[in-house]
Amino acid sequence: MKKNFTIISNWKMYLDTIEELKFATINYDNFIKLTNSENKIILCPSFLSLNSINQIFKSTDIFIGAQNCSTHLNGNFTGQISVESFNKLGIKYSIIGHSETRREFKESNIDIANKFSRLIDFGISPILCIGEELEEKKAGKTLDVLTKQLDPIFKIMENSYNKLNHLELLIAYEPVWSIGSGIIPDQDYLENIFSWLHKNFSGLRNKIVFTLLYGGSVNAENAKFLKNIKNINGFLIGKSSLDFQEFEKIVKYGI
Ligand code: 13P
Repeated sequence: MKKNFTIISNWKMYLDTIEELKFATINYDNFIKLTNSENKIILCPSFLSLNSINQIFKSTDIFIGAQNCSTHLNGNFTGQISVESFNKLGIKYSIIGHSETRREFKESNIDIANKFSRLIDFGISPILCIGEELEEKKAGKTLDVLTKQLDPIFKIMENSYNKLNHLELLIAYEPVWSIGSGIIPDQDYLENIFSWLHKNFSGLRNKIVFTLLYGGSVNAENAKFLKNIKNINGFLIGKSSLDFQEFEKIVKYGI
């Protein structure tokens, strides 16, 4: 039985903003019922719905996060959304470094580290996504890839422990080849990666609060297996989290 399990629902761009509001309001009571002392739920709708969904769940135990943020503070950056806006709206979390935004916007690890830095400046907890491509896995380079993705983040943390004091750092290991494919890594592979991640972050335990999550094709069938992998303390879920019945099963399984 695992305590303090964090479940993040990444709505990506599956629904339009009207459908997102409908999904949130129709399932409002049931979402609230899913939270308890053992689990934490964070919903990440699209930018356009962020404020409204945050208002809907205000004063409840459901948290709201953004799916991305700008590296820039403010200014002439057409189409970007500032971290300062999240701060003013009371948004407490933001995903950064998702493989879909890395791919779409050709983001480098440095770009993502800059977003990390911007978020902690404004008191927003980063949900940092990392993960390898299939070719990198096949070449046995997974830990090298993760090291490269994490190094600039560790450098920022070295000089920012005071800012991280009141924040939670969420690290989501999402193998790119698993996202949306229905395929998940096997037990040995996951145990190896999560024990490596745990080792890397546990040295900072007296300085930061961190949570390790798994993301990639999580569903009601594999949730129990994944929850029982040592050092996995949460999920970052895409598609299955938009079917409320399935999401409910994922949250309830194995807890
Ligand atoms: P799926 O759960 O749809 O595979 O997506 C995972 C993901 O990318 C969550 O951020």
